[in-house]
Amino acid sequence: MRVGLIGCGNVGVGAHLPALAAAEGVAVVAAADPTPERLAIAGSEGGLAADRLHPAWRDLLARPDVDAVVIATPQRCRTEIALAAAAAGKHLLLEKPLALAPAAAQAIVDAAAAAGVTVATNHNYRFLPVYQAIAAVLEDGEIGSPELAVLNFMGVEDRPGAGAYAPRWRHQAAEAGGGVLMDMLHAVYLANWFLGADPVAVSAFVDRRRDDGGDVEDWALVRLAYPSGQALLNMAWGVGPGGVEITATRGRAVLVNEGFGTHPFVPPREIVVVGPAGGRTIVPEPPRVFGFAGVVED
Ligand SMILES: NC(=O)c1ccc[n+]([C@@H]2O[C@H](COP(=O)([O-])OP(=O)(O)OC[C@H]3O[C@@H](n4cnc5c(N)ncnc54)[C@H](O)[C@@H]3O)[C@@H](O)[C@H]2O)c1
Repeated sequence: MRVGLIGCGNVGVGAHLPALAAAEGVAVVAAADPTPERLAIAGSEGGLAADRLHPAWRDLLARPDVDAVVIATPQRCRTEIALAAAAAGKHLLLEKPLALAPAAAQAIVDAAAAAGVTVATNHNYRFLPVYQAIAAVLEDGEIGSPELAVLNFMGVEDRPGAGAYAPRWRHQAAEAGGGVLMDMLHAVYLANWFLGADPVAVSAFVDRRRDDGGDVEDWALVRLAYPSGQALLNMAWGVGPGGVEITATRGRAVLVNEGFGTHPFVPPREIVVVGPAGGRTIVPEPPRVFGFAGVVED
Protein backbone atom coordinates (compact mmCIF):
# COMPACT_ATOMS: atom_id res chain seq x y z
CA MET A 1 0.00 0.00 0.00
CA ARG A 2 1.32 3.42 -1.02
CA VAL A 3 0.54 6.11 1.54
CA GLY A 4 0.51 9.90 1.42
CA LEU A 5 0.97 11.80 4.69
CA ILE A 6 -1.05 15.02 4.92
CA GLY A 7 0.00 17.15 7.90
CA CYS A 8 3.66 16.73 8.81
CA GLY A 9 3.61 18.11 12.36
CA ASN A 10 4.63 16.45 15.60
CA VAL A 11 2.29 13.47 15.22
CA GLY A 12 2.59 13.10 11.44
CA VAL A 13 6.38 12.98 11.45
CA GLY A 14 6.99 11.82 15.03
CA ALA A 15 4.42 9.00 15.20
CA HIS A 16 2.91 8.12 11.80
CA LEU A 17 6.09 8.15 9.68
CA PRO A 18 8.02 5.71 11.91
CA ALA A 19 4.93 3.50 12.38
CA LEU A 20 4.31 3.41 8.62
CA ALA A 21 8.00 2.62 8.02
CA ALA A 22 7.78 -0.29 10.47
CA ALA A 23 4.54 -1.66 9.00
CA GLU A 24 4.74 -4.51 6.51
CA GLY A 25 3.62 -3.89 2.93
CA VAL A 26 3.45 -0.11 3.35
CA ALA A 27 5.51 2.62 1.66
CA VAL A 28 5.15 6.36 2.26
CA VAL A 29 5.37 7.85 -1.23
CA ALA A 30 4.39 11.51 -0.71
CA ALA A 31 3.78 14.17 1.93
CA ALA A 32 1.86 17.45 2.05
CA ASP A 33 2.09 20.41 4.41
CA PRO A 34 1.83 24.17 3.74
CA THR A 35 4.57 24.90 6.31
CA PRO A 36 7.91 24.64 4.42
CA GLU A 37 9.96 23.65 7.50
CA ARG A 38 7.63 20.74 8.31
CA LEU A 39 7.53 19.56 4.69
CA ALA A 40 11.34 19.56 4.61
CA ILE A 41 11.49 17.51 7.84
CA ALA A 42 9.02 15.00 6.38
CA GLY A 43 11.22 14.77 3.28
CA SER A 44 14.37 14.02 5.22
CA GLU A 45 12.75 11.71 7.80
CA GLY A 46 10.72 9.86 5.16
CA GLY A 47 13.46 9.75 2.50
CA LEU A 48 11.17 11.55 0.01
CA ALA A 49 12.54 13.39 -3.05
CA ALA A 50 11.43 16.98 -3.74
CA ASP A 51 8.86 15.91 -6.36
CA ARG A 52 7.07 13.91 -3.64
CA LEU A 53 6.68 16.90 -1.29
CA HIS A 54 3.56 19.03 -1.81
CA PRO A 55 2.74 22.38 -0.15
CA ALA A 56 -0.90 21.86 -1.30
CA TRP A 57 -2.72 18.68 -0.24
CA ARG A 58 -4.81 18.68 -3.46
CA ASP A 59 -1.61 17.98 -5.43
CA LEU A 60 -0.94 14.94 -3.25
CA LEU A 61 -4.51 13.69 -3.79
CA ALA A 62 -4.03 14.04 -7.56
CA ARG A 63 -1.17 11.50 -7.49
CA PRO A 64 -2.21 8.15 -8.98
CA ASP A 65 0.54 6.41 -6.97
CA VAL A 66 -1.17 7.17 -3.62
CA ASP A 67 -3.61 4.46 -2.42
CA ALA A 68 -4.29 5.80 1.09
CA VAL A 69 -3.76 8.99 3.06
CA VAL A 70 -3.06 9.67 6.70
CA ILE A 71 -4.55 13.05 7.67
CA ALA A 72 -2.67 14.39 10.69
CA THR A 73 -3.54 18.08 10.39
CA PRO A 74 -5.35 20.08 13.06
CA GLN A 75 -9.03 19.11 12.92
CA ARG A 76 -10.16 22.45 11.40
CA CYS A 77 -9.02 21.34 7.95
CA ARG A 78 -9.56 17.58 8.26
CA THR A 79 -13.16 17.47 6.97
CA GLU A 80 -12.47 19.24 3.66
CA ILE A 81 -9.35 17.15 3.01
CA ALA A 82 -11.05 13.88 3.98
CA LEU A 83 -14.08 14.50 1.74
CA ALA A 84 -11.80 15.30 -1.21
CA ALA A 85 -9.60 12.27 -0.49
CA ALA A 86 -12.60 9.93 -0.40
CA ALA A 87 -13.87 11.41 -3.67
CA ALA A 88 -10.40 10.76 -5.14
CA GLY A 89 -10.71 7.08 -4.14
CA LYS A 90 -8.08 7.14 -1.38
CA HIS A 91 -8.43 5.05 1.76
CA LEU A 92 -8.34 7.19 4.91
CA LEU A 93 -6.64 6.98 8.28
CA LEU A 94 -7.74 10.08 10.17
CA GLU A 95 -6.18 11.47 13.32
CA LYS A 96 -8.61 12.22 16.08
CA PRO A 97 -10.93 13.95 16.61
CA LEU A 98 -12.32 13.33 13.13
CA ALA A 99 -13.77 16.81 12.78
CA LEU A 100 -14.88 19.93 14.67
CA ALA A 101 -18.45 18.64 15.07
CA PRO A 102 -20.29 15.29 14.89
CA ALA A 103 -22.21 16.13 11.69
CA ALA A 104 -18.96 16.74 9.83
CA ALA A 105 -17.54 13.46 11.12
CA GLN A 106 -20.66 11.63 9.90
CA ALA A 107 -20.29 13.30 6.49
CA ILE A 108 -16.77 11.85 6.21
CA VAL A 109 -17.98 8.36 7.13
CA ASP A 110 -20.84 8.64 4.60
CA ALA A 111 -18.50 9.92 1.85
CA ALA A 112 -16.08 7.03 2.43
CA ALA A 113 -18.95 4.51 2.22
CA ALA A 114 -20.25 6.12 -0.97
CA ALA A 115 -16.76 6.03 -2.52
CA GLY A 116 -16.13 2.45 -1.40
CA VAL A 117 -12.97 3.33 0.54
CA THR A 118 -11.98 2.32 4.05
CA VAL A 119 -12.00 5.01 6.73
CA ALA A 120 -10.48 4.55 10.17
CA THR A 121 -9.34 6.67 13.06
CA ASN A 122 -6.79 6.20 15.79
CA HIS A 123 -8.13 4.39 18.81
CA ASN A 124 -4.46 3.89 19.51
CA TYR A 125 -4.67 3.23 23.26
CA ARG A 126 -6.61 0.02 22.49
CA PHE A 127 -3.45 -1.34 20.88
CA LEU A 128 -1.25 -0.63 23.92
CA PRO A 129 -0.41 -3.77 25.95
CA VAL A 130 -1.15 -1.98 29.24
CA TYR A 131 -4.84 -1.47 28.40
CA GLN A 132 -5.08 -4.85 26.68
CA ALA A 133 -3.87 -6.40 29.95
CA ILE A 134 -6.63 -4.64 31.95
CA ALA A 135 -9.25 -5.71 29.39
CA ALA A 136 -7.98 -9.31 29.54
CA VAL A 137 -8.36 -9.38 33.35
CA LEU A 138 -11.95 -8.19 32.98
CA GLU A 139 -12.77 -10.57 30.12
CA ASP A 140 -11.35 -13.54 32.07
CA GLY A 141 -13.82 -12.87 34.89
CA GLU A 142 -10.99 -13.07 37.43
CA ILE A 143 -12.42 -10.21 39.49
CA GLY A 144 -16.07 -10.57 38.46
CA SER A 145 -18.06 -7.97 36.55
CA PRO A 146 -16.81 -4.38 36.44
CA GLU A 147 -19.12 -1.93 38.20
CA LEU A 148 -17.02 1.23 38.21
CA ALA A 149 -14.08 2.35 36.06
CA VAL A 150 -12.25 5.49 37.15
CA LEU A 151 -9.89 6.74 34.47
CA ASN A 152 -7.67 9.57 35.64
CA PHE A 153 -5.81 11.65 33.08
CA MET A 154 -5.32 14.78 35.21
CA GLY A 155 -1.77 15.27 33.98
CA VAL A 156 -2.29 15.46 30.22
CA GLU A 157 0.64 17.50 28.95
CA ASP A 158 -0.34 20.62 27.06
CA ARG A 159 2.24 19.94 24.37
CA PRO A 160 2.55 22.77 21.83
CA GLY A 161 2.03 22.00 18.15
CA ALA A 162 4.96 22.16 15.72
CA GLY A 163 6.74 25.48 16.28
CA ALA A 164 6.90 26.49 12.62
CA TYR A 165 3.10 26.24 12.20
CA ALA A 166 0.85 27.43 15.07
CA PRO A 167 2.10 26.06 18.39
CA ARG A 168 -1.03 27.18 20.28
CA TRP A 169 -3.73 25.94 17.88
CA ARG A 170 -5.03 23.54 20.59
CA HIS A 171 -6.12 26.62 22.60
CA GLN A 172 -8.32 27.99 19.79
CA ALA A 173 -11.82 26.55 19.43
CA ALA A 174 -11.92 27.43 15.72
CA GLU A 175 -8.84 25.26 15.04
CA ALA A 176 -9.32 22.54 17.60
CA GLY A 177 -13.04 22.33 18.42
CA GLY A 178 -12.21 21.88 22.09
CA GLY A 179 -9.23 21.87 24.41
CA VAL A 180 -8.34 18.94 26.63
CA LEU A 181 -11.58 17.24 25.49
CA MET A 182 -9.61 16.53 22.30
CA ASP A 183 -8.08 13.62 24.19
CA MET A 184 -11.28 12.55 26.00
CA LEU A 185 -12.17 10.11 23.23
CA HIS A 186 -9.25 7.92 24.32
CA ALA A 187 -10.81 7.66 27.80
CA VAL A 188 -14.30 7.08 26.37
CA TYR A 189 -13.35 4.17 24.11
CA LEU A 190 -11.31 2.62 26.94
CA ALA A 191 -14.27 2.92 29.32
CA ASN A 192 -16.63 1.43 26.70
CA TRP A 193 -14.22 -1.47 26.30
CA PHE A 194 -13.85 -2.08 30.03
CA LEU A 195 -17.62 -1.83 30.69
CA GLY A 196 -18.41 -3.89 27.59
CA ALA A 197 -21.05 -1.57 26.12
CA ASP A 198 -21.83 1.89 24.85
CA PRO A 199 -22.94 4.39 27.50
CA VAL A 200 -26.64 5.06 28.00
CA ALA A 201 -26.29 8.42 29.79
CA VAL A 202 -23.67 11.09 30.27
CA SER A 203 -23.13 14.12 32.47
CA ALA A 204 -20.07 16.33 32.60
CA PHE A 205 -18.46 19.36 34.14
CA VAL A 206 -15.98 21.33 32.06
CA ASP A 207 -14.07 24.45 32.99
CA ARG A 208 -11.26 26.75 31.96
CA ARG A 209 -9.18 27.10 35.09
CA ARG A 210 -6.11 28.77 33.62
CA ASP A 211 -6.77 32.08 31.94
CA ASP A 212 -4.24 31.60 29.16
CA GLY A 213 -5.80 33.72 26.43
CA GLY A 214 -7.42 30.74 24.69
CA ASP A 215 -11.15 29.96 24.39
CA VAL A 216 -11.21 26.22 25.15
CA GLU A 217 -11.72 24.11 28.27
CA ASP A 218 -8.69 22.69 30.11
CA TRP A 219 -10.57 20.62 32.72
CA ALA A 220 -13.23 17.97 32.09
CA LEU A 221 -14.89 15.62 34.58
CA VAL A 222 -17.23 13.18 32.84
CA ARG A 223 -19.61 10.55 34.20
CA LEU A 224 -20.83 7.81 31.88
CA ALA A 225 -23.60 5.38 32.83
CA TYR A 226 -23.61 1.88 31.32
CA PRO A 227 -26.18 -0.93 31.61
CA SER A 228 -23.89 -2.67 34.12
CA GLY A 229 -22.04 0.16 35.82
CA GLN A 230 -20.48 3.61 35.70
CA ALA A 231 -17.31 5.29 34.51
CA LEU A 232 -15.73 8.47 35.81
CA LEU A 233 -13.33 10.06 33.35
CA ASN A 234 -11.24 12.91 34.71
CA MET A 235 -8.97 14.79 32.34
CA ALA A 236 -7.02 18.03 32.59
CA TRP A 237 -4.07 19.89 31.16
CA GLY A 238 -2.28 19.91 34.47
CA VAL A 239 -0.06 18.05 36.87
CA GLY A 240 -2.59 15.88 38.72
CA PRO A 241 -2.60 12.09 38.93
CA GLY A 242 -3.22 9.53 36.23
CA GLY A 243 -4.11 5.83 36.30
CA VAL A 244 -7.05 3.46 36.14
CA GLU A 245 -9.05 1.97 39.01
CA ILE A 246 -11.58 -0.78 38.27
CA THR A 247 -14.06 -1.81 40.94
CA ALA A 248 -15.64 -5.18 40.12
CA THR A 249 -18.04 -7.52 41.86
CA ARG A 250 -15.27 -9.80 43.18
CA GLY A 251 -12.17 -7.60 43.27
CA ARG A 252 -10.27 -4.70 41.78
CA ALA A 253 -7.65 -3.87 39.18
CA VAL A 254 -5.52 -0.75 39.55
CA LEU A 255 -3.07 0.65 37.00
CA VAL A 256 -0.28 2.71 38.53
CA ASN A 257 1.89 4.80 36.22
CA GLU A 258 5.38 6.14 36.93
CA GLY A 259 5.10 8.75 39.69
CA PHE A 260 1.29 8.32 39.64
CA GLY A 261 1.42 10.39 36.47
CA THR A 262 -0.73 10.29 33.32
CA HIS A 263 -0.01 7.65 30.70
CA PRO A 264 1.23 7.89 27.91
CA PHE A 265 3.03 11.04 29.08
CA VAL A 266 4.72 8.80 31.66
CA PRO A 267 5.16 5.04 31.25
CA PRO A 268 2.87 2.54 32.96
CA ARG A 269 4.47 0.82 35.99
CA GLU A 270 2.19 -2.02 37.05
CA ILE A 271 -1.36 -3.30 37.24
CA VAL A 272 -2.30 -4.64 40.66
CA VAL A 273 -5.10 -7.23 40.50
CA VAL A 274 -6.83 -8.36 43.69
CA GLY A 275 -9.51 -11.05 43.49
CA PRO A 276 -10.89 -13.92 45.57
CA ALA A 277 -7.75 -15.98 44.89
CA GLY A 278 -5.44 -13.25 46.22
CA GLY A 279 -3.36 -10.55 44.59
CA ARG A 280 -0.94 -10.41 41.66
CA THR A 281 0.97 -7.77 39.76
CA ILE A 282 1.15 -7.46 35.97
CA VAL A 283 4.08 -5.58 34.43
CA PRO A 284 2.86 -4.32 31.05
CA GLU A 285 4.80 -5.25 27.91
CA PRO A 286 6.19 -2.50 25.65
CA PRO A 287 4.01 -1.28 22.75
CA ARG A 288 4.10 -2.94 19.29
CA VAL A 289 3.27 -1.62 15.82
CA PHE A 290 -0.02 -2.61 14.14
CA GLY A 291 -0.86 -1.65 10.56
CA PHE A 292 -3.82 0.06 8.89
CA ALA A 293 -2.80 -1.63 5.61
CA GLY A 294 -3.99 -5.05 6.76
CA VAL A 295 -7.42 -3.65 7.61
CA VAL A 296 -7.80 -2.19 4.11
CA GLU A 297 -6.51 -5.36 2.43
CA ASP A 298 -8.93 -7.54 4.44
N1 LIG B 1 -3.93 9.80 18.48
C1 LIG B 1 -3.18 10.47 19.34
O1 LIG B 1 -2.79 9.92 20.38
C2 LIG B 1 -2.78 11.88 19.02
C3 LIG B 1 -1.76 12.51 19.76
C4 LIG B 1 -1.44 13.83 19.44
C5 LIG B 1 -2.11 14.51 18.42
N2 LIG B 1 -3.10 13.88 17.74
C6 LIG B 1 -3.85 14.56 16.66
O2 LIG B 1 -3.00 14.75 15.54
C7 LIG B 1 -3.35 15.96 14.86
C8 LIG B 1 -2.08 16.80 14.68
O3 LIG B 1 -1.54 17.13 15.95
P1 LIG B 1 0.01 17.59 16.08
O4 LIG B 1 0.32 17.58 17.52
O5 LIG B 1 0.87 16.82 15.16
O6 LIG B 1 -0.08 19.12 15.56
P2 LIG B 1 1.09 20.00 14.94
O7 LIG B 1 0.69 21.42 15.11
O8 LIG B 1 2.42 19.56 15.45
O9 LIG B 1 1.04 19.63 13.38
C9 LIG B 1 0.01 20.03 12.52
C10 LIG B 1 0.60 20.08 11.10
O10 LIG B 1 -0.47 20.23 10.18
C11 LIG B 1 -0.02 21.13 9.17
N3 LIG B 1 -1.16 21.71 8.47
C12 LIG B 1 -1.92 22.75 8.84
N4 LIG B 1 -2.85 23.00 7.90
C13 LIG B 1 -2.66 22.07 6.92
C14 LIG B 1 -3.30 21.81 5.67
N5 LIG B 1 -4.33 22.53 5.22
N6 LIG B 1 -2.83 20.78 4.91
C15 LIG B 1 -1.80 20.03 5.32
N7 LIG B 1 -1.16 20.24 6.50
C16 LIG B 1 -1.59 21.26 7.28
C17 LIG B 1 0.83 22.15 9.92
O11 LIG B 1 1.70 22.88 9.08
C18 LIG B 1 1.58 21.24 10.90
O12 LIG B 1 2.80 20.78 10.35
C19 LIG B 1 -4.43 16.62 15.71
O13 LIG B 1 -5.69 16.35 15.15
C20 LIG B 1 -4.31 15.95 17.07
O14 LIG B 1 -5.54 15.88 17.76
C21 LIG B 1 -3.43 12.58 18.02
